[in-house]
Amino acid sequence: MSSSVAAPYRGPADTFEQSQPAAAGGRSEQSLLFALPKGRLAQDSLFFLARAGLSIPTGTESRKLILPAADGSTGFVMSKPRDVPTYVEHGAADLGICGLDVLRETDRAVYEPLLLPFGHCRLSVAGPADGAAVPPGESGDSDDLAVKPASSSNLPGTPLRYMSQPRIATEYPRLTRRFFAERGVNAEIITLGGSVELGPILGLSDLIVDVVQTGTTLRMNGLVEIRTILESQAALVVNRASYQLKAAEINRIVERMRLLTT
Ligand code: PRP
Repeated sequence: MSSSVAAPYRGPADTFEQSQPAAAGGRSEQSLLFALPKGRLAQDSLFFLARAGLSIPTGTESRKLILPAADGSTGFVMSKPRDVPTYVEHGAADLGICGLDVLRETDRAVYEPLLLPFGHCRLSVAGPADGAAVPPGESGDSDDLAVKPASSSNLPGTPLRYMSQPRIATEYPRLTRRFFAERGVNAEIITLGGSVELGPILGLSDLIVDVVQTGTTLRMNGLVEIRTILESQAALVVNRASYQLKAAEINRIVERMRLLTT
């Protein structure tokens, strides 16, 4: 459990009361706590919740981390995106919204009742544009990553699976390791906390694995997309115990959201 949650997990109904007094802007014993991602999914998440008829918090730009809904029915934690599944798995939050990319990387035990219609992006392998990367679908073999990293002394155009230990900078070490391992590539994974495009530019890595949405960041940094690892979008996640103990409230929310996804 996150160090910010003081009490040991005993169940979704009492955990939050133990760790955060209602006077600090939290929830009453019976209310729901929703973990929302800061950053690129934040506004779309709030907009979607409002469209689904939920009362959303105000002041989400403030430094306050837990915000009550305007009608007091629900509490909202504005958290780092990859902490959302952690809060929800441990019952510190009943529900959450996060990207599938984060969900698959963190591999938390949560229910995933709905994919949500925003936050579409992909997790891709990318490399230097001058490194002779073969665009997706053009190599004739989807597993044959014919890449010549600019900073590598490997043979030009050598299929990546035969390269000796390509270095990959990423915020997604688990998915990256699995992707390359499944292709027989013994990749060296360099985990960064952001701006992984710097990897090839600074000679830290041969390739990167990162989220691509518009492709602007890659283009601006002289990189091209090579392979898609995962298609991603926002997802609703629910704590397993909460789904049983607060079934009526949670199902009401899920069904309201479902109407917007069909
Ligand atoms: C993400 C990702 C890329 C960028 C891709 O970064 O890591 O850098 O967005 O988006 P684009 O294809 O639309 O240019 P984010 O802004 O979330 O911050 P981060 O680099 O700290 O992860």
